[in-house]
Amino acid sequence: MVDQKENRAAAPALGDASVSVPALRWDEPPEGPVVVVLDQTRLPVEEVELVCTDVPALVEAIRSLAVRGAPLLGLAGAYGVALAAARGYDVTEAAELLRHARPTAVNLEYGVRRAERAYRTAVEGGADEERAVAAALAEARALHREDAEASERMAEHGLALLGELLSGGGYRILTHCNTGALVSGGGGTAFGVVRAAHRAGELRRLWVDETRPLLQGARLTAYEAAREGMAYTLLTDGAAGSLFAAGEVDAVLIGADRIAADGSVANKVGSYPLAVLARYHHVPFVVVAPVTTVDLRTPDGASIEVEQRPGHEITEFAAPSAPGAGTEAGSGIPVAPLGAQAYNPAFDITPAELITAIVTENGVASPVTGDALAELCSRSPSP
Ligand code: MRU
Repeated sequence: MVDQKENRAAAPALGDASVSVPALRWDEPPEGPVVVVLDQTRLPVEEVELVCTDVPALVEAIRSLAVRGAPLLGLAGAYGVALAAARGYDVTEAAELLRHARPTAVNLEYGVRRAERAYRTAVEGGADEERAVAAALAEARALHREDAEASERMAEHGLALLGELLSGGGYRILTHCNTGALVSGGGGTAFGVVRAAHRAGELRRLWVDETRPLLQGARLTAYEAAREGMAYTLLTDGAAGSLFAAGEVDAVLIGADRIAADGSVANKVGSYPLAVLARYHHVPFVVVAPVTTVDLRTPDGASIEVEQRPGHEITEFAAPSAPGAGTEAGSGIPVAPLGAQAYNPAFDITPAELITAIVTENGVASPVTGDALAELCSRSPSP
């Protein structure tokens, strides 16, 4: 079941830091434990929280992109398992539902696996139900803290890398999709580096791809950039080429949903064309992601499952303030003839050879090779 809490001011004050409402939190009201997510489909118009009292509600929040972005999906998965345990649902069934809610971001499966394993280990060790629930919740909280710490490290490494790659300050950075505090227990991935550059006085301009079809750039990254008081400019995805041609982009910074063992990166559709543009124009193309996004079990880009989204996300425009907007066919304004076929992959794959560097909390892989990635991953204990 899902409840809505619309008790927040709609228009954020410019210059406020990041986001005012956490993207995801655990709460324990008298009626029982819940996972509360900020409904990102309604930003930037209003800040509405969805209170998920069970796993099906959380799965629906994931599918509808109310909660989204790789690291945050990991937290949703882990807290979802804790929620199932705390509410007395079948944990195995709940874990299956959660891990299959979306296929591409490996963090979702990772978060589910960690919390489920903590629960099982407690049960097998003779813990009663209360202690097993506490173990699952403690694991979700540990992942939350680790993600926040990883954000800080990535921002440090990413800022240092920009200093090495680009001469002089005053960076003009192009980004795609949303990778900030809305997708993380901390400050985020690529946007975390942008924020660090901004706070160091080194950011001249953030170019924000609107990110079709669901506008995570326009609705979410611009929202975070505005709150940070950054100089930012929104563009349509198709305008990026002329921006490169005009010499207005110093670096591209994006996040990732899954990084294969060979360094191929799955990220929001439109990332690969940016990498091609960046190579042609001799501009560094940098991916920022925690090591939990690196999936050494997936050998290459072709082995990554790319989520296909429903066509109505392209054939209709949805007003973000309408509850559930865009989640069902017919809920938006038609912008294509009735019955038009649509090709709507949520992600695309960028091969390692087009990527200048992958920044993780454990350091930087550049050039991007399987060995370099494996070495960075080996610096984290495998939980
Ligand atoms: O479909 P979404 O909005 O979940 O896609 C998110 C992205 O593609 C992000 O760029 C990616 O998860 C990295 S977020 C740190």
